[in-house]
Amino acid sequence: MAIQHRACTTDNDDKGSVIFLEKKILLDESYRSGMNADHKSLNKEVVSALLEVQDQFLLVILEPSNDTPTLDDHVHALLLESGIHLFATLQGMGDSLVDQDSTRDCIEQFSQSNGIPAERRYLMHAGLKVTCFPRRTQPVTGTFLSEPLTLSFHTYADMVSWILTHPNAYQNLLNALHSAAELLKQGGLVAFPTETVYGLGADATNPSAVEKIFAAKKRPFFDPLIVHVSNREQMLPLVTELPKKAEMLMDQFWPGPLTIVLPKSSLVPAIVTAGFPSVAIRMPSNPLALELIRLSGKPIAAPSANLFGCTSPTTARHVVEQLQGSYDAIIDGGGCTVGIESTVITFLGETPRILRPGGIDQKAIESCIGKVLSEQQESTDDVSTSPGMLPSHYATATKLLIVEDLCDYASRPDVGVLLFGQSEQVFLGPVEYLSLGSDPSEAAKRLYQAMRRLDSLSLSLLVVKLLPETGIGVAVNNRLMKAAGSPSLGTRKED
Ligand code: TXA
Ligand code: MG
Repeated sequence: MAIQHRACTTDNDDKGSVIFLEKKILLDESYRSGMNADHKSLNKEVVSALLEVQDQFLLVILEPSNDTPTLDDHVHALLLESGIHLFATLQGMGDSLVDQDSTRDCIEQFSQSNGIPAERRYLMHAGLKVTCFPRRTQPVTGTFLSEPLTLSFHTYADMVSWILTHPNAYQNLLNALHSAAELLKQGGLVAFPTETVYGLGADATNPSAVEKIFAAKKRPFFDPLIVHVSNREQMLPLVTELPKKAEMLMDQFWPGPLTIVLPKSSLVPAIVTAGFPSVAIRMPSNPLALELIRLSGKPIAAPSANLFGCTSPTTARHVVEQLQGSYDAIIDGGGCTVGIESTVITFLGETPRILRPGGIDQKAIESCIGKVLSEQQESTDDVSTSPGMLPSHYATATKLLIVEDLCDYASRPDVGVLLFGQSEQVFLGPVEYLSLGSDPSEAAKRLYQAMRRLDSLSLSLLVVKLLPETGIGVAVNNRLMKAAGSPSLGTRKED
């Protein structure tokens, strides 16, 4: 490992906080400039993010060993020109930095020689991710947070604003989780991140706490809630039957974005299930969600943390925008990594049936337990329906239209475009890229964020073309059609 020190230019006394950055995030390969092959210009979003934090954090670049000897002169000059001052360049790591032991060793060695405490280190890496570390002297054992924690973000601005509000990241999160868990125990409402979307949680065994969820969301009482658990033992008393196939799904997909509907026990109050004899249960995979549920010791009823019928939240900021004042605490865990809600599957009918497509696709489910019915297939019994799946849902305030050819709207500056994949077409209106590389998972992750951004621009219309109907594309299309208020393509015209 080679360490190149540069003069530290910050006047701040607190020089114990460091942001390590993967070199490649400095270069211009962001969404908007993704079509630009010249990777020797700086990513403007990263530059403005770094300008915001460099007074309070030392900036250290991690450079792969297979690059030219050191951070090349051109990039260095561009950084200086932009007003960014690096503290050091660490060289000699492999290409995919964060998961490599050599990167950890390198960071460790650097921190020790500069007296930087573990919990004051942030690692920013490609794919808009930040890793933060537990304090070495106080390992958090027996919890979901015993390892370094990696959070995802939708933008670099979101990333640095999270870092600035969590100057002691790991400890800040632990404190927030402990006090939120106390609030849950006392019947309070807590908004928290899951891998799918943010949830608005309450103790599922406390009917008056659950009632507050419906009030906060303005949600009708006929729409039942999903109960979230942190382990199997917590789940078993909530149901009266556990079919073998449901257990197989749990083995394969829990913790994760799969919700299973089973006959409920008397422990689950009627308000949670809207009076239905079944309960929907899920074990989320987000470590903050798991830790919150574990600390509260309660099963947590939680719908998406948005106003009923509106776009779901995939950042804490989204929750604040719609629900501020109606919950007792919020855990800010950055952006959601799956980005759309869980798949809901019911075991109440003869054949398991998907009620809502989501983070786990039908093919993956069928390869685990064999044939299941999809949400589009007619149900032969009336027990396997989902009362919450109304034709209009997830809606933006600006009308959304599903179209065959986006180019028809290219000359309209008042029309926002949600684009999947690259396009040669120049659009006069604002464009949000769901995924430049036509990756349906990336589109799912960015969907609600992109819808919300276009919705904030006071446009007359938003247009989108459906994704190919495979994998998670099915779930993305389901949300788009519901947001457009149209059960199928072409049933609604611009009026
Ligand atoms: O990913 C998710 O599932 C997120 C996060 C927070 O976990 N939660 C979520 O909750 O999307 P919500 O309330 O927005 O959607 C729950 C869906 C609704 O369509 C509801 O009708 C259905 O699950 N559901 C809940 N309980 C049910 C039951 N007993 N039978 C049938 N459907 C049920
Ligand atoms: Mg919802």
